[in-house]
Amino acid sequence: MIIRKGKMWDCNDLLTVYQTTRWSEEYTTEEVKEEHRLAGLERWGWLVAEKDDQVIGEIIFRVEPTPNKGLVGIIRSIDVDIRFQKQGVGRQLVSEAESILKKRQAQRILIRSPPTAYNFWMKLGYFGRGKLTWIEDEIENIPVMRTSSISTHRLREFDDLPDSLRFSHLALADSLAKAASDVVDKNEVGRVLEFQREGKPIGAGVVVKKDAKKAEFVADVVPDGLDSFPVIVSRTARAANRWTTTTAFSIVPDDSLGEYIGSGTWDIKEARDIPVTKLL
Ligand SMILES: CC(C)(COP(=O)(O)OP(=O)(O)OC[C@H]1O[C@@H](n2cnc3c(N)ncnc32)[C@H](O)[C@@H]1OP(=O)(O)O)[C@@H](O)C(=O)NCCC(=O)NCCS
Repeated sequence: MIIRKGKMWDCNDLLTVYQTTRWSEEYTTEEVKEEHRLAGLERWGWLVAEKDDQVIGEIIFRVEPTPNKGLVGIIRSIDVDIRFQKQGVGRQLVSEAESILKKRQAQRILIRSPPTAYNFWMKLGYFGRGKLTWIEDEIENIPVMRTSSISTHRLREFDDLPDSLRFSHLALADSLAKAASDVVDKNEVGRVLEFQREGKPIGAGVVVKKDAKKAEFVADVVPDGLDSFPVIVSRTARAANRWTTTTAFSIVPDDSLGEYIGSGTWDIKEARDIPVTKLL
C-alpha cells in the first residue's frame, strides 16, 4: 500500500469508499469532485491510500492560524473503505498527515470526531477536549437587532474574508471555513457575511440551508468586537429567513455558549460529535 497526494481522478474510487463509510448520504461522482475541488486547489492537504491501483482511503487536513495558540492542524475527514478497515490504513494516513502538519509548524491537531470513531483517535494518542453544544431556535424568535454602527456585507468568495476573520475566536476551529466553503465551493444554498464597525471587520457569519426547514449557522467575532456578538449571531441566523427554513441551529464549543445568551431563546442539547486533540 502507498500513501500519496490525492488527485481529481481519484474521485471515482473515493465514491466507492464513501459508499461504505458515508452510506447515509447518497453521493454522485460529481458531488465527490465538488467536495474535492477545494482540496485540489491546495487550500487543503489531501492524501490517499492506494492498494493494487485502487484508492481505498483518504484524509483531508489543513493548518489554521489561531489568535493566541499558534498554528493548529485540522483534520476535516478520514475515510477508509470498510473492506480494508482495521488493517492499519487509517493509522498510516493520520501519521503521514501529522508529519506534514508538523512540518507546517502546527502545534496541535483538532478533530471533530463522530462517536463511532472516538476509540480510533484514542488509540492514536488523541484525547477528548471539551464538549460541543447544539443550539437551535425558531428564526422568528431570534430578535432583530437594528444598529447603524454595524454594517453587514455579503461575500461571494472565501478569499474575500479579511485575515482577522480567517481564524476562530469563539467558533469551533475550522467551522466557519467549512461552512463558507460549503457555500462558495460546493454551491450549497447559503450566505457568507462580514460585519464591520467603523469600517473595520469585527465579525463573520455563514448560514447554510440544510433542508426545507433547517439552516445551520456559524458566527464568529474578533476579541475587540465581543460586545457586538449578539448582533452578529442574530443577523447571521436571521439571514436564513429568505428561504423556506423556519429554524436555525449552530454547533458551538461549550465554553463559548454563554456568549449566545441574549441573541435567542435557544433549545440546548449536547452535540453528537466530540472534539479530540493531540499535541504535536
Ligand atoms: C475511523 C477509520 C478511519 C479507522 O480506519 P482504520 O483503517 O480501520 O484504522 P486502523 O486499522 O489504522 O486502526 C488503528 C487502531 O485503531 C483501532 N480502531 C479502528 N477503528 C476503531 C473503532 N471504530 N473502534 C475501536 N478501535 C478502532 C484499530 O483496532 C487499531 O488499533 P491497534 O493498532 O491496537 O490494532 C475508519 O473506521 C472509517 O473510515 N470510519 C468511517 C468514517 C469516520 O468515522 N471517520 C472519522 C471522521 S473524524
